[in-house]
Amino acid sequence: MTQDSNQPAQPARREFFKMGGAITAGAGVAVVGLAPATAEAAVDTSATLPYKPKTIARVKTMKVNQPVAFNYPDAASPCQAVKMGTPVPGGVGPDNDIVAYSILCTHQGCPTVYDSNDRCFKCPCHYSIFDAEKAGQMVCGQAPTKLPQIVLEYDAKTDMIAAVAVNGLIYGRQANVL
Ligand code: FES
Repeated sequence: MTQDSNQPAQPARREFFKMGGAITAGAGVAVVGLAPATAEAAVDTSATLPYKPKTIARVKTMKVNQPVAFNYPDAASPCQAVKMGTPVPGGVGPDNDIVAYSILCTHQGCPTVYDSNDRCFKCPCHYSIFDAEKAGQMVCGQAPTKLPQIVLEYDAKTDMIAAVAVNGLIYGRQANVL
C-alpha cells in the first residue's frame, strides 16, 4: 500500500502504541491524584446519627395535658412535649406518660397546634389531625405520615426528661440532623 504524499504522515504502528501507553499512564496519575480528595469528601453513611441530647423539663413542673415547647434537634425544629396523664406508646417519666413530637405538619410543614380537649395536634392549614396518645398517628387529613416522635429519656435522679433522637423525618428535611 502506498502513502498519499498530500496527506499528513500517519504515526507508525510502534509510535501509536507508545502514545497510547503515555495516555494510559497519564490517566493513572490523574486517578491516583484524585483518590485522597474523594476519600475526604466521603459521606457519613453510619446508621447512628449524631443527635445531641437536650434537656427539656423537670417532670415535677409539667402539668397534665399542657404542652411544653422546645426546639430539637436544632433551633429551626419546633417541638412540644406533653404529659398525657396515662401511659402511652413511647411515654417516659415515672408514669410513662410523657411524649414529644415535631409540631411541623408532615403535609406541607405548617406548625400544628395542640388541642387539649381532643389530645391531638391539629394543623390549621389543611386540617390534618395527629393523635398525641398514639405515637403521633394521623387521624385524618392530607398528611402522608404521622408526626415525627421525639425520643425521650428520663433521669430519675434529676427528675429531668431529655430529647435524645427523632423517630421519623422532620418536614422539609432530607436528614433530621443537618
Ligand atoms: S400543611 Fe398540614 S394539612 Fe397541609
